[in-house]
Amino acid sequence: MMEFNYAEGATPLDPNEIEGLIPTHITKREELDRWEQQNINEALAWVDEKKPNDVLNERFIKILHKKMFCDAWKWAGTFRKTEKNIGVPIYKISIDLKLLCDDAKYWIEHKTFSEDEIATRFHHRLVLIHLFPNGNGRHARLITDILIEHVFNKSPFTWGKTDLIKSGQDRKKYIEALRAADNNDYDLLLIFVRS
Ligand SMILES: Nc1ncnc2c1ncn2[C@@H]1O[C@H](COP(=O)(O)OP(=O)(O)OP(=O)(O)O)[C@@H](O)[C@H]1O
Ligand SMILES: [Mg+2]
Repeated sequence: MMEFNYAEGATPLDPNEIEGLIPTHITKREELDRWEQQNINEALAWVDEKKPNDVLNERFIKILHKKMFCDAWKWAGTFRKTEKNIGVPIYKISIDLKLLCDDAKYWIEHKTFSEDEIATRFHHRLVLIHLFPNGNGRHARLITDILIEHVFNKSPFTWGKTDLIKSGQDRKKYIEALRAADNNDYDLLLIFVRS
């Protein structure tokens, strides 16, 4: 059995999901982080080449997760099949995602909020649905950056100054800002994403 230390606000894996781990030689959290990062780097290269701008749909959202995590997890790109301490009930994942994509398209069309606020609200609602067994934070940050870069033609968010995956001051700020957003207060998150 592997032992993982979870960063603040990170989702524990079920035994089922640990089953889906592809690299059998990995025994430590840091090794897995590095392995996943390698995979994510390939996804970043793919995004740079493709410059996707049709992102607000289930198809693209799943493809991106698959590109980011296909070397690490057999279930990469497929929605979660078990309940978590965060996220909507599994039967609502697809429906809530469709609602979110439709809301975001409406906000863009009607300029309901600034582009940064649209991206921030989209990011928060996406992690709140919690589509996948794991990788939701990293996936939702990347897709938010793709929205800003390739749809809004602006520079991507900075998401604090340090690596958010490791526990630390920025991670704490990020999770606190998401919790405020859970109560419909987006101020902290709006500041954080460009800090
Ligand atoms: N209260 C909350 N409200 C909204 N989203 C939250 C909350 N707590 C945590 N999250 C989100 O859940 C993510 C953790 O989920 P998961 O472990 O699936 O993602 P990850 O990509 O593996 O994590 P990481 O953030 O370390 O990259 C956090 O990064 C954050 O985006
Ligand atoms: Mg995680």
